[in-house]
Amino acid sequence: MKIGVLTGGGDCPGLNAVIRAVVRKAERVYADDVVGFLDGWKGVLESSTMPLDVRAMRGSLPRGGTVLGTSRTNPYKIEGGAERCKATLTALGVDALIAIGGEDTLGVANRLHGEGVDVVGVPKTIDNDLSATDVTFGFWTAVQIATDAIDRLHTTAESHDRVMVCEVMGRHAGHIALYAGIAGGAAEILIPEEPFHIEDICERIKRRHSAGRFATVVVVAEGATPVEGTMTLSDKGVDAFGHVRLGGISNGLAEAIEAKTGFETRVTILGHIQRGGTPTAFDRVLSTRFGIAAIDAVHDGAFGQMVALRGDAIVRVPLADAVGELKTVDPLLYHGVAEVFFG
Ligand code: F6P
Repeated sequence: MKIGVLTGGGDCPGLNAVIRAVVRKAERVYADDVVGFLDGWKGVLESSTMPLDVRAMRGSLPRGGTVLGTSRTNPYKIEGGAERCKATLTALGVDALIAIGGEDTLGVANRLHGEGVDVVGVPKTIDNDLSATDVTFGFWTAVQIATDAIDRLHTTAESHDRVMVCEVMGRHAGHIALYAGIAGGAAEILIPEEPFHIEDICERIKRRHSAGRFATVVVVAEGATPVEGTMTLSDKGVDAFGHVRLGGISNGLAEAIEAKTGFETRVTILGHIQRGGTPTAFDRVLSTRFGIAAIDAVHDGAFGQMVALRGDAIVRVPLADAVGELKTVDPLLYHGVAEVFFG
């Protein structure tokens, strides 16, 4: 068979490990030809490709980013885009496509599948907000990076008796903030799922500091929202999929904390550091398992499906289930565990 592979959306540690696994099993077990599309759906639209074989993927397992490049191009936002994608696949003789991406990339895959394209999905995103899988690859690497950063913020916060606000990614879900906040011993964790009240936070910070030199690390998810009418946040426009651009909430938050508590407050926005660099061992293994499962799914004709982790098992789920609904944090983990350490 001839198999196409693409990586779409924001990059994520483990992408190369998935591609490497697909290529390895495709070449050595199934004797397939594998072609990589460059820069996500843009490569399919424009028929820009690179050959992929075991030799080309050598050394890629620990490498962050994606050898294929990525973009947020949405063929359904381009006149005749879906038709152009299908024409490319036919012209190149691609029998099946493996799309590695998050909600947006897999949403396009699902629509193309509805139009007759044979596609299998692999769930990628540091945000861990995809339904139908227990976890996406890249998430635990981002959590580890954020946890390491929070550990470092504690010692400088204590030395200066300051409040440190650490902003992490995650879009409209608080998974990274919640797990890194628990792992890093944050005194406050602000997530989109639980609108925050600035007055309550400041009261707790004042109490905490008055009990001695008890510095505070506040972890805030980029998509966290204040209780309506309590704070104004700036709007940064939208991307090709119509999603609001996030990032920067910590600046307004830190100003408000400093003004209301009188404690010096500093901001650290971890940003793309959370997405760059080498995947953790867990993510390397998960990505490898996903890659193998994806090429097996292609050979079983399991199109319109996504490979997923459920418990310890890799399973197949309909793409439609994965992209239908945002996976948000478990309220029990927030209220029953994280909150116990607030203040
Ligand atoms: O979805 C992954 C993610 O890293 C989000 O956490 C973040 O909001 C967004 O991508 C940033 O996207 P960009 O690459 O466009 O800056």
